[in-house]
Amino acid sequence: MMKSHADAGPAIQTLRWRDGALEMIDQRVLPARFEYLRYGSAAEVAEGIRSMVVRGAPAIGCAAAYGVALQALTLRSASPQAFELGLEAGFKVLAASRPTAVNLFWALKRMRGVWDVNAQRSPQQIAELLLSEAHEISAEDVRINRAMGEHGAALLADGARVLTHCNAGALATAGHGTALGVIRSAVESGKRISVIADETRPFLQGARLTAWEMVQEKIPVTLITDNMAGHLMSRGEIDAVIVGTDRVAANGDVANKIGTYMVAVLAQRHGIPFYVACPLSTIDLTVPDGAAIPIEERAAEEVTGFRECQWAAQGVQVRNPAFDVTPAELVTALITEKGVLMRPERERIAGLLRRMPP
Ligand code: MRU
Repeated sequence: MMKSHADAGPAIQTLRWRDGALEMIDQRVLPARFEYLRYGSAAEVAEGIRSMVVRGAPAIGCAAAYGVALQALTLRSASPQAFELGLEAGFKVLAASRPTAVNLFWALKRMRGVWDVNAQRSPQQIAELLLSEAHEISAEDVRINRAMGEHGAALLADGARVLTHCNAGALATAGHGTALGVIRSAVESGKRISVIADETRPFLQGARLTAWEMVQEKIPVTLITDNMAGHLMSRGEIDAVIVGTDRVAANGDVANKIGTYMVAVLAQRHGIPFYVACPLSTIDLTVPDGAAIPIEERAAEEVTGFRECQWAAQGVQVRNPAFDVTPAELVTALITEKGVLMRPERERIAGLLRRMPP
């Protein structure tokens, strides 16, 4: 993978299309280094998703869409049969990259839809259409995040101290962010918001990514370890919790970064609203409840240490589920691009989706 260095600049561009290739910020090395890696095929993008160069549900969806487009572009001079086989292989490798974020499968389905309706065209034409669709998925993601931001900002009082878990910011999306997008929009509207960032063991998305994003934009941010949230809540130092999500089941159960469930239980204990910023593409009506959401298990080394520093006893058994499920009853509201859905449950979610154009 080639590296290209760049200044972060004011707006964080997690993914960008440059000279016929996809470039993605390498989120594994932030905040120590800010650099883009270049990707030229579906298999390369799948590896970027698997290894967490790019992470966060909407960003994974955008990356997968570009992965499909890249695959088609590499095959544009092939025969129709070779194109079909090669493109199918691209879909397959991308679908196997990570299991929990439904945006990955949502984006692949949308790309397949474009292929299906244009199947009679030449490989070159299909490749161009797929690339346009990937661009559109990314542009749409930013528009959706801005809409969610506006709806969600109204929920935050001036001066609110907002706890967030993991990174649901610009880095987790094509721009603006979901949970951090709400905070950004509230700040843009003139509210004084401060952020409490859970560090988010074991991959440290909060300490490395959320804290970095907020520091870049001079939004006041305080970093805590994950086991400090209850203490701060008990002292009245947190006014609201906002997190993102990787998949919401039909009944409103929310899968998000491991540790989110613990925060939601604590929030309820202390009467603190628990909001989930949730683009509608993250709602998966095919799973009835949270128990049916596939939960990724990651490598033991993420728990036994960090990078080359491994501190746990050699030979210890490890569990490393990357996500957990917060039951719908603990969720105060889903913040979507179509508005705020209070007390999400099956009927209300179905009603919201029915009001959407197909
Ligand atoms: O393992 P990650 O870093 O991909 O997990 C990310 C999260 O859990 C985010 O909170 C979620 O994807 C929402 S991002 C807008």
